[in-house]
Amino acid sequence: MQEIKFYTGENIPLELHKVRIVQKLHLVPIERRLEALKEGGFNTFQLNTYDVFLDMLTDSGTNAMSDNQLASMMQADDAYAGSQSFFRLQKAVRDVLGKEYYLPVHQGRAAENVLGKAYVKKGSFVPMNYHFTTTLAHITQYGGRIVELLYDEAYKTTSSHPFKGNMNIEKLEETIKKEGASNIPFIRMEASTNLIGGQPFSVQNLRDVRAIADKYGIRLVLDASLLGENAYLVLKREEEFENSSMAEVIKIMTGLADIVYFSARKLSSSRGGGICTNDEKVYRELEPLIPLFEGFLTYGGMSVREIEAIAVGLYETLDETMICQSPQFIEYLVNSATEQGVPMITPAGVLGAHVNAWEICSHIPQSQYPAGAFAAAFYLISGVRGMERGSLSNQRDEYGNETYADMELLRLAVPRRVFTLSQIKYVVDRLVWLNDNKELIGGLKFTYEPPVLRFFMGVLEPVSDWAEKLVAKFRTDFGDSL
Ligand code: F0G
Repeated sequence: MQEIKFYTGENIPLELHKVRIVQKLHLVPIERRLEALKEGGFNTFQLNTYDVFLDMLTDSGTNAMSDNQLASMMQADDAYAGSQSFFRLQKAVRDVLGKEYYLPVHQGRAAENVLGKAYVKKGSFVPMNYHFTTTLAHITQYGGRIVELLYDEAYKTTSSHPFKGNMNIEKLEETIKKEGASNIPFIRMEASTNLIGGQPFSVQNLRDVRAIADKYGIRLVLDASLLGENAYLVLKREEEFENSSMAEVIKIMTGLADIVYFSARKLSSSRGGGICTNDEKVYRELEPLIPLFEGFLTYGGMSVREIEAIAVGLYETLDETMICQSPQFIEYLVNSATEQGVPMITPAGVLGAHVNAWEICSHIPQSQYPAGAFAAAFYLISGVRGMERGSLSNQRDEYGNETYADMELLRLAVPRRVFTLSQIKYVVDRLVWLNDNKELIGGLKFTYEPPVLRFFMGVLEPVSDWAEKLVAKFRTDFGDSL
């Protein structure tokens, strides 16, 4: 993709789309935001979007859809079995992901459930570059364990390493020797490693993982939920591919994996998911689980309208002018905030900008969830809803002890083509203010802690009256501003 240069030398991302449908937003006063936080147990998942100004909780199911995606939904073929919509999606999977067999599931975690049910047993061991919350929950549910094998660089919050999501190849081989290949149902690689800041892996790293998988006869599974952005960063950062196309890089990556699964809520700016393979044996093993858990094989729990939108969305993933928008806005956000002293995870990754809440809230012990507290505080002072990605998002171990996260992050998701640059500037402005007033933020404690995926439905409260103090300081500094 050719770069667009500004005469005045200003370096800002330029939108290559126009806005044709708009939705009104509400920025309610800070006093109402405090009420909303209390009603929602200081958990940003529990907020009502009426109280949210910029919804940066996630890109999952919130990317803007294109005119062609919406148009395709009107030609959906409503049929329980044999829908034309399904065959259009199957063709898109073959064309874009290069996989012959496609099993539809209602979203990404459903694919994880099916794979877990089919392949993970008590004592199974799954090496991966890094876990995702739902992946870990499904593997442990079926009695398996996981190990994360990143290089040390990945755990450094500030870095210039282009591929922090790379699997540590030496550790992978050591692990296989120690655990025994027969106990390892598959190796999992997650494109654009979500929980460490949306950090990609290189194609070369995936090739190296493939070589180890071949050496020990273990299947390689690719979580392709954020494959488009990972491929985009390969084009930008991996020399071998600087003149390649998105289509080429995506095909190379999926071609290296035996099984590819995805959340279509991310990959194709729609909702739904899928499991794909070229291995007929794998297909036959998984096939019976789809009607059991998801729905008939030609809809898998999805609406046929969404199936049409996924098909179009998959082709659009190959368009660099579409896929570049979110990473470029994220880079702008990360760089602007960093320049103004806010500790951010670098280099900028994909999906969202990640704030190093641990560094900002170093006065809050991990047992009081510094990233959760920062997420609540940031919503309070800005109306911007992000998501905690730290110890609160971790699950307790088998003895009920906390397992503290390697990083305590606030993720500010930047869904594709949803926000404008002035909104991103507002986010940076409020981040700078909160960083300057960080000592006012206090910790959180659970008043209701669910046993599984506790961060979704958990209810917390502040350990002191710190939220009221933040409101008072906001009023002092901003007067009657919203
Ligand atoms: N894998 C990855 C890498 C993900 O980021 C997600 C979801 C899933 C699997 C599960 O897919 O939501 O369709 O069931 N990530 C969302 C997020 C929830 O906000 O990052 P799903």
